[in-house]
Amino acid sequence: MPKTATLQLEDNTFEIPVIEGSEGEKALDITRLRQQTGYITLDSGYGNTGACLSSITFIDGDEGILRYRGIDITELCEKSTFMEVSYLLIYGHLPSTDEFARFKERVHYHSLIHEDMKSFFTSYPGHAHPMAILSAMVCSLSVYHPELLQPDQSAEDRDQTITRLLSKVRVLAAFAYKRSVGEAFVYTKPELDYLSNFLHMMFTTPMNEYFPDELIRKTLDVLFIVHADHEQNCSTSTVRMVGSSKANLFASLSAGICALWGPLHGGANQAVIEMLEAIYADGGNHKKYLEMAKDKSSPFRLMGFGHRVYRNYDPRAQILKAYCDKVLAHLGVRDPIFDIAKALEEAALTDDYFVEKKLYPNVDFYSGIIYRALNIPTNMFTVMFALGRLPGWIAHWKEMIEDPGMKIARPRQIYTGEILHPYAPIEQRT
Ligand code: SDX
Repeated sequence: MPKTATLQLEDNTFEIPVIEGSEGEKALDITRLRQQTGYITLDSGYGNTGACLSSITFIDGDEGILRYRGIDITELCEKSTFMEVSYLLIYGHLPSTDEFARFKERVHYHSLIHEDMKSFFTSYPGHAHPMAILSAMVCSLSVYHPELLQPDQSAEDRDQTITRLLSKVRVLAAFAYKRSVGEAFVYTKPELDYLSNFLHMMFTTPMNEYFPDELIRKTLDVLFIVHADHEQNCSTSTVRMVGSSKANLFASLSAGICALWGPLHGGANQAVIEMLEAIYADGGNHKKYLEMAKDKSSPFRLMGFGHRVYRNYDPRAQILKAYCDKVLAHLGVRDPIFDIAKALEEAALTDDYFVEKKLYPNVDFYSGIIYRALNIPTNMFTVMFALGRLPGWIAHWKEMIEDPGMKIARPRQIYTGEILHPYAPIEQRT
């Protein structure tokens, strides 16, 4: 591989350094391009621009490969748990028995939020979207931990912040759900694991203590593992962008939650179910919607299809499709929109438009069907995505903050507005 690329600009020739990653990805290092040439690059949507070097997650979009710290997502779903994957992403290695015990103990220890915060929830109207509540509450949590807001934290304080947020964001999400259904808040139990406690907090009522069975618990583990990280996606890049100003982790995560909310990103899982329900209500004619998605004059897109990086089947969608079958069979649920989803996928995968544009189902296409089967309301689907993505956001924030060469993110632009002209007094304006 050449160490430099040659750039010819007018009468000048410049050598641009070439770098290569551990999986053979190559990049032109343009860190000094403007100083060298006076030029910047333009790449709207950053489809061709690497924002950083990272050792957390590797995606090969052409081959449909996803690995966390070098371990394949399929193997992690089969053999690991969301808590263990969270440790792997954040600390860079699978934990020893002692490390894992201490990590789980610290996460459980921080399962409570200040009782004052309960009044924050009741100040929201019942119809408030849980994503609005979650992003506000994560930032508000910081007021109870002023000692963790210093820009240059010690490693110990950073770990405190990380375990507190890993534990408490789950509680805030469960409380947001309870607020939306008008039920009393439920607390964690020491004998339950991280995700069992989340479901316990969500579905326990004064009439019935809820404890998930093994398949439901494993299904949620897998759902959260496949959502745990995805390198420089929109919301993770937002966490890095905000964190690069040395804003604290509470603020950076709150910004990431807001970025995830959009229907082109994490909000797609809610939009997929709404689309499938609309197709069902319209008589189940999925071919009509496939044609609409291909019609350039229509703003309609097939939600849950397509991806900026995957030009092959999203490996996460394959894993979740298999779990749809398992969970629906286990719960004895016949969900007609699952049949519509499978018919839609089958039709799209053989349709020239989708084949030529390499549009495949993504992680959001099947996740909502499982959440529905678990009785999680549609407006909580993106909250579930946020809980799954939490360790990935934290891992990227930590990787960036611990980089001695970290700089505040500040992209450039090409100005296309008015050139210099004098102020016109109002009486001279038409
Ligand atoms: C997530 O980045 C990540 O890693 C995200 C994520 C993660 O884990 O963090 O994987 C999670 O956000 C998954 C994506 C969820 N979003 C959706 O399912 C929404 C529907 N998908 C599309 O909006 C779209 O595919 C995106 C946003 C996902 C990707 O958009 P791109 O990369 O900007 O691609 P594009 O919009 O330029 O589309 C390329 C072409 C266009 O046609 P042409 O203009 O070339 O003729 O493909 C078409 C698009 O019109 N196209 C679609 C389509 N997606 C793209 N046409 C119909 N239906 C679709 N879903």
